[in-house]
Amino acid sequence: MSLTRRPRRLRRDGIRELVAETDLSASDLIAPVFVDATAQERVPIESMPGHERVPVGEAVARVEEVLETGVEAVLLFGVPASKDPHGSRAWAEDGVIQRATRAIAAETDATVITDLCLCEYTDHGHCGVLEEGAAEEPALTVRNDETLELYGRVARSQAAAGADAVAPSGMMDGQVGAIRGALDGAGFSATPIVAYAAKYRSAFYGPFRDAADGAPAFGDRRHYQMDPANAREAVREVALDVEQDADVLMVKPALPYLDVVSAVRRTFDRPVAAYNVSGEYAMLHAAAERDWLDLDAVARESLLSIKRAGADLIVTYFAEEIARAL
Ligand code: PBG
Repeated sequence: MSLTRRPRRLRRDGIRELVAETDLSASDLIAPVFVDATAQERVPIESMPGHERVPVGEAVARVEEVLETGVEAVLLFGVPASKDPHGSRAWAEDGVIQRATRAIAAETDATVITDLCLCEYTDHGHCGVLEEGAAEEPALTVRNDETLELYGRVARSQAAAGADAVAPSGMMDGQVGAIRGALDGAGFSATPIVAYAAKYRSAFYGPFRDAADGAPAFGDRRHYQMDPANAREAVREVALDVEQDADVLMVKPALPYLDVVSAVRRTFDRPVAAYNVSGEYAMLHAAAERDWLDLDAVARESLLSIKRAGADLIVTYFAEEIARAL
């Protein structure tokens, strides 16, 4: 027996680690944080074990918990005190995100990224201004260009509150350019845009909609979020965000779309982020609760796969657990 090729030589202890192609680091992880203007105390999110909605007064404490694990960045979501057809609490100076961001920026060293959308703020739960009659007629949907103007207001108010970056997630055409223009015009040309560049209309967002109270009151988001059937379209869609100077290109969800993460990595020379969404988190927890999976092991393997596919950054509800274990 004279084998000439022995790949197992690299799998010996002490060698394996040296030749590892990817690894996880706390500085690549972003932890989502939910701030709720209607909450008087922390409210656990049932479908996302370990996560909770916190009142504005607890936002700093919540972010400090994240920082203690070694994770340095948070993605902030807000649940407003009231909702209306245009989602005006999304750009209110005393809005939930604005108050939380000001406090976190003043009292911690966290990198604060604010989710920029209207679905948690509109009474109909869609990501922008509705067309007339949309509630009755499923073919009607969100008005693209009117919505862009509102996204500009949200961006300016978030940057003014101290956001280190804004993350538009509404999937309106031209949103990155509109937000870039609004920020630049208000003196925030140094604020990066972490663009949800290829965001799919996914059933994996289910648990998040409990967390952030942003489910559409009727219909779904198929008229603006991407069709899960399409990967080549993602490259075209992301190219538009690159033309509009998106600073970071995000793919969402992550695990069911690793082909898309990989395509974006190979095609564009910009940082790539992936959002390991609420459903990806919930399903591992559900299986682990029954002792069907080892939670820590599958969480690590999931995040490593996302890195291997080409993501530089990962938004994940596992951020704190994983960082603590690193
Ligand atoms: C809002 C938004 C959603 C998520 C992030 N931002 C929900 C949606 O688009 O329906 C989902 C995050 C998750 O599931 O973890 N536009």
